[in-house]
Amino acid sequence: MTTILDGKTLALKLRGQIKEKVDKFKSEGHRAPHLAAILVGEDGASKTYVASKERDCDFVGFKSSVHKLPADTSEEDLLNLISSINNDEDIDGLIVQLPVPKHINATKVTEAINYEIDVDGFHTISVGKLTKNEDTFISATPFGVIMMLEDYGIETKGKSCVVVGRSNIVGRPMSILMSQGGRDATVTVCHRYTPNVGEFTKNADIVIVAVGIPDFLKVDMVKEGAVIVDVGITRVDADNKRGYVLKGDVDYENVKDKTSAITPVPGGVGPMTRYGLLFNTLKSYKKKLNL
Ligand code: GUN
Repeated sequence: MTTILDGKTLALKLRGQIKEKVDKFKSEGHRAPHLAAILVGEDGASKTYVASKERDCDFVGFKSSVHKLPADTSEEDLLNLISSINNDEDIDGLIVQLPVPKHINATKVTEAINYEIDVDGFHTISVGKLTKNEDTFISATPFGVIMMLEDYGIETKGKSCVVVGRSNIVGRPMSILMSQGGRDATVTVCHRYTPNVGEFTKNADIVIVAVGIPDFLKVDMVKEGAVIVDVGITRVDADNKRGYVLKGDVDYENVKDKTSAITPVPGGVGPMTRYGLLFNTLKSYKKKLNL
């Protein structure tokens, strides 16, 4: 029997819990939590992501403000805007949607955000604290995956876990979290220079794939009864109204029946990522207001 790890339903439940907390804080006379987002340029996927973050904020009763800047915005102007948001006491979270246009240094941008409102968890201080298992903002996708595994009661202690992908946003923090005390998995990280990734994944109890290559993980790369988490979400051209379909990194239809649990795409990790951002923003708000 395969359990479908239904991130959509779980995120809906968890978002509802955030809304209840926010309603309570507001009824006690506190201001709403406030998430600010900066979007530079016209990237279609980025626009969609930012719009969904705005909708999520609305749903839970957060205030959201989106700064939409033209693609030719100078790095200096962007850094100035970040600085003014950093100094706004009434803003609890700030994200700059990535990627930024090529003439802007993304590292400079993430480092310019005050780590105390770095709800993406991309700042070096946030990453350093995560690595040392200190309290911090954990970036939304790894956080969402951990929440999902916990909620479904997936055992990680003593299990072998292969993370495919080593990005700063997903693979790297994911591998650190899975090996930390409390989860206690034995973690292997595979990446583009790993020969025969399947040799690693087919021996793993848990596989977390974040490579952005549709159908990358095939059925012969998976152990019978493994838990498979698919972080991939690639737009593939299609002859439909939107002009694309979303594809995960796992060859879902062929892999599914071999697993004990698997995330679908869409409706798996994606909604949990969105929840992660709300969670971090509420966490920052509570800290600021001593709640
Ligand atoms: N681009 C893709 N994913 C993310 C994310 O989680 N945060 C930001 N700021 N940009 C992204």
